[in-house]
Amino acid sequence: MKQYSFLLESIDRDNSYQDALDIFNTLSKEEKWDVCPRGGILKNVPSLLYRHVIKNKAFIDLYPFEDHKDIGFVIIAVNPKFRNHGLTRELLVQTKKDAKKIGIKKLIWKCSTKNVGSHRSALSNGFKETFVTMEFDL
Ligand SMILES: CC(C)(COP(=O)(O)OP(=O)(O)OC[C@H]1O[C@@H](n2cnc3c(N)ncnc32)[C@H](O)[C@@H]1OP(=O)(O)O)[C@@H](O)C(=O)NCCC(=O)NCCS
Repeated sequence: MKQYSFLLESIDRDNSYQDALDIFNTLSKEEKWDVCPRGGILKNVPSLLYRHVIKNKAFIDLYPFEDHKDIGFVIIAVNPKFRNHGLTRELLVQTKKDAKKIGIKKLIWKCSTKNVGSHRSALSNGFKETFVTMEFDL
């Protein structure tokens, strides 16, 4: 099976985690931190709302945004070997349809200002900038 997705009730959660992790592990250290800021590690957490995998190439996960299960926080990664081939667009087209079916009303995509690819990709897939996060190192 080259491509699959699952919704809340699926039994594929644990198997698909390994597939997502394999893709996540193709990212650079900096990219891992952009995707998963707390330690740069993709965890197999029960809060996952939705996952779509294109095996060995790309995946998207949706998690509740600040406990809101109707707002999907996007984690998306494309194996560097398969970038700039529109895989992000392909994942998002499917995810937007599926997410609606499970009651998700909005997607949130967060990216570092240094991550040009992430920023461009979000904008070209219809995301609009709404708020800015600022940091102060202590
Ligand atoms: C961000 C990411 C998912 C984009 O993947 P992708 O499938 O290569 O992107 P696409 O082919 O759909 O490209 C979408 C657009 O962004 C542009 N783009 C992608 N990477 C780019 C880069 N590094 N620099 C400039 N533009 C870039 C493409 O040219 C395209 O522009 P267009 O729509 O105007 O033609 C991929 O770079 C990635 O996995 N990055 C690391 C993880 C990450 O940052 N995830 C996002 C936050 S969770």
